[in-house]
Parts: sequence; structure tokens; C-alpha cells
Amino acid sequence: MHILRDRGGKRPGHYPSARFPHRRSKSLRYLVALLLSVLTWYLLTGADTPLSLATPWAGSHGGKHPIDALVRAADKVFAARLSMATQTLPATAAAYRERRGRHPPPGFDKWYAFAREKKVIVVEEFWDQIYHDLEPFWGARPAQIRKDAREFEMRVQVRDGKASTGSDWFWTQIWLNLIQSIEHLLPDMDLALNPMDEPRVVVPWEDMAAYLKEAAKTKKMAPVKKVVSDFSKLPPIGETPYEEESVIPPVAWERNKHYWPIARRGCPPNSPARQAETITDFDKTPFIASSFNLAHMKDGYVANYTLSTDFCHQDDLQALEGVFVEPLTVASTTSLLPIFGGSKLSTNNDILLPAPMYWNEEERFTGGNGASVPWSSKYSSVVWRGVATGGLNRATNWRSFQRHRFVAMNNATMLSLAASNPTTNPPPNFALPSKQYPLPPLTPQANDNTPNLPSWLSQTTDVAFTDLMCAHKGFHPSCNYTGPFFSTTEPIPMAAQFAHKYLPDIDGNSFSGRYLGFLRSTSVPVKAALWREWHDARLVAWKHFVPMDNRFGDWWGILGYFLGGGGSRGVSGGKRGEAGRDRGDLVGERIAMAGRDWAGKVLRKEDMAVYTLRLLLEYARVTDDRREVMGWVGDLNGEGR
Ligand SMILES: *[C@@H]1O[C@H](CO)[C@@H](O)[C@H](O)[C@H]1NC(C)=O
Ligand SMILES: *[C@@H]1O[C@H](CO)[C@@H](O)[C@H](O)[C@H]1NC(C)=O
Ligand SMILES: *[C@@H]1O[C@H](CO)[C@@H](O)[C@H](O)[C@H]1NC(C)=O
Repeated sequence: MHILRDRGGKRPGHYPSARFPHRRSKSLRYLVALLLSVLTWYLLTGADTPLSLATPWAGSHGGKHPIDALVRAADKVFAARLSMATQTLPATAAAYRERRGRHPPPGFDKWYAFAREKKVIVVEEFWDQIYHDLEPFWGARPAQIRKDAREFEMRVQVRDGKASTGSDWFWTQIWLNLIQSIEHLLPDMDLALNPMDEPRVVVPWEDMAAYLKEAAKTKKMAPVKKVVSDFSKLPPIGETPYEEESVIPPVAWERNKHYWPIARRGCPPNSPARQAETITDFDKTPFIASSFNLAHMKDGYVANYTLSTDFCHQDDLQALEGVFVEPLTVASTTSLLPIFGGSKLSTNNDILLPAPMYWNEEERFTGGNGASVPWSSKYSSVVWRGVATGGLNRATNWRSFQRHRFVAMNNATMLSLAASNPTTNPPPNFALPSKQYPLPPLTPQANDNTPNLPSWLSQTTDVAFTDLMCAHKGFHPSCNYTGPFFSTTEPIPMAAQFAHKYLPDIDGNSFSGRYLGFLRSTSVPVKAALWREWHDARLVAWKHFVPMDNRFGDWWGILGYFLGGGGSRGVSGGKRGEAGRDRGDLVGERIAMAGRDWAGKVLRKEDMAVYTLRLLLEYARVTDDRREVMGWVGDLNGEGR
């Protein structure tokens, strides 16, 4: 997780930038908006409109660019998902049984009433993450899970409808506040909470397969007459129940800072991650394989975002992500412990809750009012500010850190230098653009005023570190090993970042806490991530955000599509009439608005509370000795109609 350091102050409209001087006059806006909506409708309802523009380098789109196909596919996925929404309790219970293969948990009717009261859109798929996270626990003994939770160092307990904690750690306090908002609907339980940024549990794939096999045996619906519809009580806090528990040794926490060998044990034995040789030397330019042929890509762009966050088929990421190289802290276990946390990698078995800063809605993570700047008054440009996190960067490993790679790839000087002489001056930590993308030339061309990629980048993107997080100098801004490659600049408050149309979002030490703020804004988040969060199943890539490969090789192509299309000579800065707006800009606006609109419907605090209530009812059932006969069957008994 990365903490954006907010300097407060400036309103977005007042963000000083010599680079992006063009602003649109206000007077035409209404007429233009009307024209645009007609044009947008026309362009986006599928017709391959031959919109004739000065053919820009990114390839005139006219609906033929690979991104156009991905955007159309996303529309279909989203429409299909929305069409699954249920409007009544019996229909919701039926959708549950169909998707989960079990009866809903006791209290499901109260959960449903709560969801309705909070005006939540009910699509069963939105809660998929809960079932992914909890399924293995159906293969573990309830008494053991309860014991593991009770004995964990950081806990929230619920007894008689009251949640409490003995910890004053600020995250625990925020989570406590979240749980208290639903405590009146909760049965007794103990929750183990992860106080660290980094997730804790990676059960080896082979053991996980065994848990899931056991779990599958419990996946059935008890006869309605036998169903028990209440939860067991737990003894008072601090009192150890008499339980027959298997004697297993206390959990051994692994502290090995090289996290790749730990993370990959959750991958299938025949996967590239498990098969690949482990890299231990990070003191060189990492090898960056082309991502064109990877399973999550299509025609050079991310086509399956969920799969793109799974690293089991991407063994090269072991040298391209700080978390695999050297996280700040590691305390991992192979035991299936019921630990709740805010984010995790694809192989972690932690249980996801909405992250504390999302529940807290701090302005530095939301951007406050800046989030509603109209698209038409934004700069056609990219801004990114952040700290050089990702893990503990050192002189001998920083080339393998993702944020360092992204910042370098946006540095025109570095790109020019590498392009002019790739053999003597190779890029320090990235790969030059693949020839498979139709990009402008890397070096200036004689007798041609076509922009070259570096000069175009320097006019379009403003990407820099605010702190190099130097291992030798603590928080001092300059650094004796990354200093020659990066300079630091002032942070830009999130509200002012919203003056730019495109906002890359790159993982830090763990997930990036600004993502929700970006989604809620009228700018477009361009998201590259390995981290998974509670809300993933409700967001559709290319509909609500632009997904990016974790190598970032598609970044320049994404820029070209969205920013390289229209206007005079296809570069930013040119004044263009609205009628000359290219498809990329229209699609960009549409993604920005769809993301904002959707976030206002399914990523509200109310949605977090409803998610947490569903999660905790399931958790209470799976940790109850009678779990296999527990459920809510009111609809099958004739109630709830
Ligand atoms: C994305 O990949 C996952 C994992 O391989 C797969 O289950 C899913 O069906 C894929 N989704 C699409 C839309 O292809
Ligand atoms: C940077 O400074 C540290 C501490 O003074 C020193 O040990 C290290 O060798 C220096 N590294 C480089 C690359 O100069
Ligand atoms: C861009 O790269 C040059 C050369 O490596 C470096 O001096 C400069 O500080 C970099 N700029 C940023 C914003 O990091």
C-alpha cells in the first residue's frame, strides 16, 4: 500500500502546468455535450464508423483497433452481469443456491433486508471473492479454525451483537468501526486481523487441493426439515472452551525476505512459476519477455484482467515486482489460518475485507470535490506521482521494482538515450517498445515532422517519484544508486491529479490505496496490479477502468489509442474542434464516466458493509460445528414471499 502525501490546497482548475496549456472554453460546453452524446451513441453502438481523421500513428481506429474490440466485449460482459440482478428474497436465495451449491447461511433474510435498505444492487456474482476465500475452510475442522482465530495476536470479537477489540492499532480500529456498523446482525465470532501490509498465508497448492477436495464433499443442500437456522454461541471472551483439538505444533512464521519461493508454492506443480528456475541476482536489467503470447493478452492488450493478476503463468514477474524480490516485511505460513486482510496476491489464502482506508474515506485517497471536474475541461494528459515503494529497494535490486520501471518508461530522456544506442546504453530496467505495436519512431526522423515517441511522451505524460525511499538514506529524497536515474518532484494532491484525463495506478508495497478515488473520479484509471481486493468481481476491465499488463509493455500503445489519435498531427497540445475528437478520447470519456457512475452504485461504504455482513455470516457458519446442516430455507418453507 502506498500512502500519497497530500500537500493540500490547490483546486484542480488551478493546478499550474506549463506543459498542458490548452483548456476548453466553457461557453460551448452544453451544445457540445449534446452533440457528443449523439455522436458517442452513434460511434459506440457497434457500427464501424469510418471516422476520417488525419490518420494518427496509433492507427486510425474506426472501430478496428484491438482496444475497440475489448471495449465492446466488456460492454457485453457488463450487460450480462447486470441482467443477473435479483429483486426479491426468494430469487436471491435461488441465485445463491444455483451459484454456491449450498443453502444460504442463517440470517440471509436479514442480510437481504439490510442490502435492500442500503440500496445495494444484488448480483450474486459480486460476492464471488467471499466464496473463493472461504471455500478451503470447509475442508478444515471448525474447532481448529476457531482456535486459530482465538489465539491470533490481533483480533476483533463479537459477542451478543457487540463487536470489540483489545487492540488500538489504527487499522484494527477502522475495521472495528466497519464491523460495528453491522454488529446487531452478527452472531458470535472471533476474527483474526492482519496488522501488516503484506498478506500472511500461502498454503502449498498440493495441500490446498486436499482442502478443496474435502470441502467439495460438504457442498450439498440438507433436506429442508433438517436445516438448523441459528448460530452456536461462543464462550465469553478470554474463556477457553473445552474442545477436542488436534495437537498441531504452533505456527512457524517464515521470515525469509525473498518472497517468490513462498508465493509460488500456491501455484499448480506444472505451472511456469513452479517450474522456472528461481532468480536470485537482481543486480542487472531484468529479462522482460514479450507479453503478446501470454494467456491474459489479446492482440497486445489485457483481455482477461483477473488472469493478468495471477502470476502462476508469468514466471518472469519474479524479477519484475518488488513484492517477490524483497518486501518490507514477511511473516508467512503454510498453515490455513483464518486471517482477514485488505489485499492479497493470487496465491494467498487470506480472507479479504474492504481495506481500512476505503472505509475511512480520507480525502487524500478520494480527492474530495476534485473528483467531479468535467472531462472537457481536463488536460489530455497523464499524471502520476508516488513514492518508490514496492518493497525495500536497494542498489542491488531496484531494477526489479515495478514503480521504478513505470517511471523510467515514461522518461523521455531515458527512452531516447536507450533508443539511440541500445547496445552501449541499454534501458536500465525496462524493455524498448515491441515492434508489434504501431508506435511512432523512437528516434527523430530526418525530413519528417512526425513526432518521435520520446518527444511525444514528454508532452503527454508527467510521471515522477516524490521520494526515492533510499535504503541508505531513509526518507532523504536523493539516493546514491537510483539518484542518477530518477529525480524527485513535488507531490500533487489527488484533487489536482483529476485535472488530467488518464491516471496510471501502479502497485506499491501492496495494493494501491488510491484506486477507489480514481474510480470515483471523472478521470480514467489505468490499472496494472497483482493485488486482489474485495471489489474485484464487481468491476469490469475496459468498462470501468483500463487494464494494463504488469510489464507495462502495452503502456505506450494504450497512450497512443487514447491520446495519440485526434487533432493536428495526433499529438497533444493542438487545439481541436469537438467534431474532430477521435474515438480514443470518446472511449476514454465513456470509461471515466462509467467507472464513476458504477463506483457510486457498488463501491460505496454501504456496499462495503453489505459485503462484510455476507462474509461474516459465511465465516460464522463455516466455523460452526453444525455447519453442514445450517442454513436459511425460509423461502422453501413458504416464508419470505
Ligand atoms: C479468465 O481467466 C480465468 C482463469 O483462467 C478463466 O477462468 C476465465 O474464464 C477467463 N475469463 C474470460 C472472460 O476468458
Ligand atoms: C551508497 O552509500 C552507501 C552508504 O554510504 C554505501 O555503502 C554504498 O556503497 C553506496 N553505493 C553506491 C552505489 O555508491
Ligand atoms: C529521467 O532520466 C534522466 C536520465 O536518466 C534523469 O536524470 C532524470 O532525473 C529522470 N527524470 C525523472 C523525472 O525521474
